[in-house]
Amino acid sequence: MNTLIVFCTTYGTTEEAAKRLSEMLAGNVKLVNLMKEKDISLEWADRVILGTSIYMGQPPKQLKAFIKSHESELLNKSLGLYLCSGVVADYEKNLENAYTQPLIQHAEKCSYFGGALKPEKMRFMHKNITKIMVKASEKDGIPLPKLEVSAIEKFARYFIEKGY
Ligand SMILES: Cc1cc2nc3c(=O)[nH]c(=O)nc-3n(C[C@H](O)[C@H](O)[C@H](O)COP(=O)(O)O)c2cc1C
Repeated sequence: MNTLIVFCTTYGTTEEAAKRLSEMLAGNVKLVNLMKEKDISLEWADRVILGTSIYMGQPPKQLKAFIKSHESELLNKSLGLYLCSGVVADYEKNLENAYTQPLIQHAEKCSYFGGALKPEKMRFMHKNITKIMVKASEKDGIPLPKLEVSAIEKFARYFIEKGY
């Protein structure tokens, strides 16, 4: 079984999730960072896992472009989808913004892997928005997002238990 994990990240959290997942899955696993690589071939893959972060309710444009040009191929492979984002309550809405309905319907497993805010890495605007988000979370007593390793393990276990 050859698995390609194709991900979009801005500050590395979705990449960290992809790396952790790659260490948990059985068979051959390769990673593709959509922010860096173009001309991606899916030919090698029996299974594709797509992962993205969310900014202002949307995934990066690179993910949208990738899905537009590869959707029919993705619908012919084993498929898993995940999100790294900050607001767990918005998971369903974010999933629908990130992926198309046919992909969501076709996916064997969709999951929320948590997220992380890394202000030390952020450009100015994102840093300011993060400050506002952190203050709002503190005020409402909502914990800040963190990468949910147990959710990644559960996702990996699903595919391992399928025996492929
Ligand atoms: C400027 C900014 C906007 C964000 N907007 C959203 C959002 O609309 N919904 C959400 O659930 N998370 C949002 N997040 C949280 C990110 O999706 C989360 O931090 C994610 O883990 C980032 O992953 P990355 O490091 O792979 O880019 C936002 C974060 C920042 C910094």
